[in-house]
Amino acid sequence: MPFLLETKEVSKAYRETGGNLEILKNVNFTLSEGKIAVLTGPSGSGKSTFLNIVGALDRPTGGLVFFNGREMSKFSRKETNSFHRKNLGFMFQFHHLLAEFTAFENVLMPARIAHQNYCESRERALELLSIVGLSERIGHLPRELSGGERQRVALARALMNRPSLIIADEPSGNLDEKNAEVLKSLILELNKKYGQTFLIATHDMDLAGIATDRWLVAHGTIMVNTNAYERRKSVRVSIGT
Ligand SMILES: Nc1ncnc2c1ncn2[C@@H]1O[C@H](COP(=O)(O)OP(=O)(O)OP(=O)(O)O)[C@@H](O)[C@H]1O
Ligand SMILES: [Mg+2]
Repeated sequence: MPFLLETKEVSKAYRETGGNLEILKNVNFTLSEGKIAVLTGPSGSGKSTFLNIVGALDRPTGGLVFFNGREMSKFSRKETNSFHRKNLGFMFQFHHLLAEFTAFENVLMPARIAHQNYCESRERALELLSIVGLSERIGHLPRELSGGERQRVALARALMNRPSLIIADEPSGNLDEKNAEVLKSLILELNKKYGQTFLIATHDMDLAGIATDRWLVAHGTIMVNTNAYERRKSVRVSIGT
């Protein structure tokens, strides 16, 4: 079985006047299905850059990225788009919900874009909104939701097309402690119950605590810190309590 995600010697540099700004240098990274990988490291160390590259939102200047054993730089633009729809769900620090659409419509959106069956998608969107505890808020516009609720809508939306991988960049970065705790519990439950794989960049050490794989980003390299699975066993899931 290939890794769900693997990078080989991935580099990213920006051309600047007076030289090259090297952000990532020969990064070798692996992620197996069913894991929660968490990247931590100082601001500016390259976490978002790395997520954007493995999420095919950006291209590396060197090295290879494999998804399920397929090398991504060979994808055409069309293939990249369909790859996104089928395999990836994204979550960002600032939810990126569409302001003119309700919570329900936002969650449904990825299925509409992928032209999936409406009735089935509708059922799934409602189920996902129930899983994230927002059945009572389906008709609310983003501005009528709290920050924590918006982030949970974003999580439901990321799950809509049953992605193999959810990439989350500072998903709790904009939340207070209580809402960050709710989001953390949800991520952990989705992983334990449905085997959902996550790749998360965060400064939130509490969220980092649910990792099965911890990676430290520093000076352009990403080093595996520790396999944190044993530690995680003691983390309690506290949904609805
Ligand atoms: N388009 C660009 N051109 C030049 N430099 C860039 C560009 N995009 C990002 N950088 C630089 O790359 C470095 C890494 O940025 P990145 O956003 O990946 O950091 P990060 O680890 O996600 O930080 P944070 O924790 O603050 O989110 C930063 O020093 C940034 O200035
Ligand atoms: Mg970042």
